[in-house]
Amino acid sequence: MSLDEKLLRRDPERVSRLFSEISPRYDLLNRILSFGRDGAWRKIAVQASNPSKARRVLDLATGTGDLAFEFVRHPDFEGEVIGLDFSGEMVRRARQKAAARHVSNRVQFREGDALDIPEPDGRFDVVSVGFGVRNFADLEKGLLEAHRVLGPGGRMVVLEFFRKKENPLARFYLDHVLPRVGRWISRSPSAYAYLRQTKKSFLSPDEFISLLRSLGFSPVVLKPLTAKIAHCVIATKPPAPAPE
Ligand SMILES: C[S@@+](CC[C@H](N)C(=O)[O-])C[C@H]1O[C@@H](n2cnc3c(N)ncnc32)[C@H](O)[C@@H]1O
Repeated sequence: MSLDEKLLRRDPERVSRLFSEISPRYDLLNRILSFGRDGAWRKIAVQASNPSKARRVLDLATGTGDLAFEFVRHPDFEGEVIGLDFSGEMVRRARQKAAARHVSNRVQFREGDALDIPEPDGRFDVVSVGFGVRNFADLEKGLLEAHRVLGPGGRMVVLEFFRKKENPLARFYLDHVLPRVGRWISRSPSAYAYLRQTKKSFLSPDEFISLLRSLGFSPVVLKPLTAKIAHCVIATKPPAPAPE
């Protein structure tokens, strides 16, 4: 399946249209294609963010809101979450889910761009991104925006599928099973082929860690998930130096 050039360049208009297109079946496909592991990965990411200390969380590229909801569900988290996504359909579904779960008082979903976050500097204790950074048209800009809106000592948690050497079984699954099952269930001819392609062409975990360090995050910690299928990266914005 050939993918259009604009999509492969992460053209924001094309990427947002693609996610709007697959939004009705997005949650179901996550469960099926991850063999039910995605929920556990989100729990690990929330736990790693130190939720008991967080008051304000920003979930970038929130999609249908599953990572945002995981914060609200955490027993030690008493704060509020804003979920931001540039796909109007994803945001609409996230809002419906929040209403159905009676948590709209603790989680708000807004339409907006992660590369130009409509929030002031230093506002959040945690910024999370679940399977979103791979889709950013300008990765560095997105990470710098996350850094800007974090307060000193704040944490960014990223869940992602990075580029890595794949064993033959994983390669067969990702090249042949995932795009076909994705196309069949989502009814989108190209969405899951695109998602496969973005994993192949994205950074390796080590490259991503180096980039975060070069942008001012420290420490940066990597947690492999389920035989390194996915990874959770926890990157801290250093606390402000103590006054002399
Ligand atoms: C693979 S989905 C992940 C959704 C959700 N975070 C999850 O864990 O299931 C990627 C999401 O990123 C959003 N996205 C990509 N680039 C974005 C950007 N620059 N600003 C806001 N949302 C973006 C897409 O619209 C899509 O909903």
